[in-house]
Amino acid sequence: MLRILVLNGPNLNLLGTRKPEIYGTTTLADIEQEMQRRAKELNCQLSFLQSNHEGALIDAIHNAKGQYQYIIINAGAYTHTSVAIRDAIEAVEIPTIEIHLSNIHAREEFRHVSMLAPVCVGQICGFGAMSYMLALQYAVEMGKQNDEA
Ligand code: DQA
Repeated sequence: MLRILVLNGPNLNLLGTRKPEIYGTTTLADIEQEMQRRAKELNCQLSFLQSNHEGALIDAIHNAKGQYQYIIINAGAYTHTSVAIRDAIEAVEIPTIEIHLSNIHAREEFRHVSMLAPVCVGQICGFGAMSYMLALQYAVEMGKQNDEA
């Protein structure tokens, strides 16, 4: 069965109350529940981790090797700063989808640069909670194609 790791970085535990005009009112628990519901329909298995600590995210990426076929990551502000998370993604060679709730390119200039984008399959941003669902759809469809190949 296709296994996908869903990682969330710093401050995403505050979703729902954090700047709702930017990030919406959906909580991370709501997002994870909706993803889980969809994953059941699509017959794949999801694991979730949220951490405010860079090292914990890096450990999770390392431990994903051999366990997960895809990683979906919203690294929060670490997206813009973390060479270490980028190197971890590159090292494990698990296809990784970078996501954001907000359109980082339409916001402050420091959010326009992603350290992770060059080592990810692609980036989905600006679709609110739906960014997570779109990433899930991509991973499942690609996973199926690879299974059939
Ligand atoms: C975010 C965008 C980042 O710039 C920000 O630091 C976040 C959330 C998003 O989902 O829109 O924490 O990753």
